[in-house]
Amino acid sequence: MTIKKQPFGTTPDGDTATLWTIENTSGLSLGICDWGATIVSVKQPDKTGRLDEIILGFDDASRYISTEGYLGATCGRFANRIASGKFSLGGKKYQLNCNDGLNHLHGGEKGYNARTWEAAPYSEGNRSGVVFTLISPDGEENYPGEFKVSADYALDEQGRLFMDFKGVSNKPTIINITNHAYWNLAGAGSGSILNHLLKVHASGYLPVDETAIPTGEIHSVEGTAFDFRKVKPISREFDHCMVIDGENGVLRVAVEVQDPVSGRKLTLYTDRPGVQLYTGNFLQGTPFPKNSGFCLEPQDFPDAPNHPEFPPVVLQPGETYHHRSMIEFSNR
Ligand code: BGC
Repeated sequence: MTIKKQPFGTTPDGDTATLWTIENTSGLSLGICDWGATIVSVKQPDKTGRLDEIILGFDDASRYISTEGYLGATCGRFANRIASGKFSLGGKKYQLNCNDGLNHLHGGEKGYNARTWEAAPYSEGNRSGVVFTLISPDGEENYPGEFKVSADYALDEQGRLFMDFKGVSNKPTIINITNHAYWNLAGAGSGSILNHLLKVHASGYLPVDETAIPTGEIHSVEGTAFDFRKVKPISREFDHCMVIDGENGVLRVAVEVQDPVSGRKLTLYTDRPGVQLYTGNFLQGTPFPKNSGFCLEPQDFPDAPNHPEFPPVVLQPGETYHHRSMIEFSNR
């Protein structure tokens, strides 16, 4: 494994950005920067050994504008949507900033995707990575409690990308951290991902209202377009949270995606209850038009603070939030 550090331009806040590139002996590489703890690059060999960029991203931090697509970013304090930005905790009402029409999305006006994180590279055994840390002040975007968060991104010799998010708060608060990478296994910029083959280990999904807020029900995928229990082409647009089979809190296989031409495949494992399947419906223009990448955002359920029937998302002082996800790359 090699790990390399280099300048990555200037952040939209005017600070100097840094990029770390980690590469294993098979040529698989991961590029991550301190602006937004963002995955800016993954290069993967295809079945013939040809390397291609499979992450939608840019070569300079200045291009990562805070609310434009969240390309590759670490999202928080609460990823995905909260209806009208409202929730109650300990008998108190909170009003978050609404940055997605009437709703709060991916942490608000200036989420964790738009902050410079502290970075500490490391190597242990056959795995190298970078631990990014951030202190999110009490009251930031109107969330209660100072939240100290870390995002550990690492690559190993077996072709696995580990994503570990942890945090502690000094007051009760709500947490949902994810990564928002867009993938195109045929190569970034090569066109639509709707022909990629998808398998989702989910018997249910969360139906949503017209502003993409879950209704609270869990629908069976049986007989619907959401049934990817057997592999089939993506074919149409999605922007929905899939309810992953198996036990919450336990790392288990969640989603498999393959590009039929190059043979490149990724398999996502997560310990979270859901994965937001998003087909880049709101991407536009060059270099990344609509549907030119797909996101698999492992996470707790959207708007969970307003749905007591969903798995809980409140973090108490003294507890540690810990989300583990992992992506395995292959090219058979
Ligand atoms: C959401 C989309 C949203 C996008 C923003 C996704 O996580 O599901 O609805 O437009 O993030 O890039």
